[in-house]
Amino acid sequence: MIDKIKEHIAEVEKFTTQAKEDIENFRIKYLGKKGLLNEFFAEFRNVPNEQKKEFGQTINKLKEAAQEKVNALKEALENKAEEKGVYGDLTRPAQPMEIGARHPISLVKNQITDIFSRIGFNVSEGPEIEDDWHNFTALNLPEYHPARDMQDTFFIQTNPDILLRTHTSSVQVRYMENNKPPIRTISPGRVYRNEAISARSHCFFHQIEGLYIDKEVSFADLKQTLQHFTKEMFGKSKIRLRPSYFPFTEPSAEIDVYWGLATETDHKITKGTGWLEIGGCGMVDPNVLTNCGIDPTEYSGFAFGVGIDRIAMLLHQIGDIRLLSENDVRFLEQFKSAL
Ligand code: PHE
Repeated sequence: MIDKIKEHIAEVEKFTTQAKEDIENFRIKYLGKKGLLNEFFAEFRNVPNEQKKEFGQTINKLKEAAQEKVNALKEALENKAEEKGVYGDLTRPAQPMEIGARHPISLVKNQITDIFSRIGFNVSEGPEIEDDWHNFTALNLPEYHPARDMQDTFFIQTNPDILLRTHTSSVQVRYMENNKPPIRTISPGRVYRNEAISARSHCFFHQIEGLYIDKEVSFADLKQTLQHFTKEMFGKSKIRLRPSYFPFTEPSAEIDVYWGLATETDHKITKGTGWLEIGGCGMVDPNVLTNCGIDPTEYSGFAFGVGIDRIAMLLHQIGDIRLLSENDVRFLEQFKSAL
């Protein structure tokens, strides 16, 4: 009899399953009301006294083994079910993930470069710390030229030849020096001017400048290109070119877009005129072409420059230019949905 119980113990220890019903059947077989254990306990009365001790111990062992086995199998089954819950339920909503935002300056810069790259312009960049030649002299602004005062310049104190570029026109000089026409390039970048900081102006801001040099380029090409740009950028194609002066272009003009007067904001940003100034432009001065190694009798070209900060403020209704450089997360995270 004892041997039979021992066989059962061995069997119980070996038993394994992953099915719920099998565990339950196993439990009923050993631990159920009419199970084997109760049968053995009933047998206890008939066991001779000298065997009672061993018999009792063996049945208890079987009982413990069976109980432990049932618990262990049940736990394994539950763990598996839990795992399934984590990895298996594909209908569960995902954990919300924090997404980043592009800076409004980058957004507008990308938009402008996209528009121009679709009509054959490439992107060129240059250093923010420039020399006098690239920022001024090559652009028809020799030393002591009064127009240098138009752009209050930050000089490097120990070397008056080195300065922080006041416009991205310096990149165009570099580009013309290193590339042959036809040239179609736009140069976005940060520029610096020694100006008082206020809601409307800062000592650094961003420009994007375009340059087009080829044979027989005319003012009409410039106008058409700008019109295409304002149409793509703002959905407005009515522009106005007001005569102006830049040392590096002749003739020169300020670019105005007809913004309209539909809303109160329109009145405010256009000062009641409906027209909004977005930048400067002109036909590249022959002196500049000569300075950069391009023959002005063979080639002509146009250039234009627009302020990225101003356009960003306009499109995103930003009331203070300082917000663009303060990096306040509460401001920056508002551009999450913009592309
Ligand atoms: N560089 C000029 C500025 O910063 C803008 C400009 C660019 C004007 C190209 C004409 C042609 O004011």
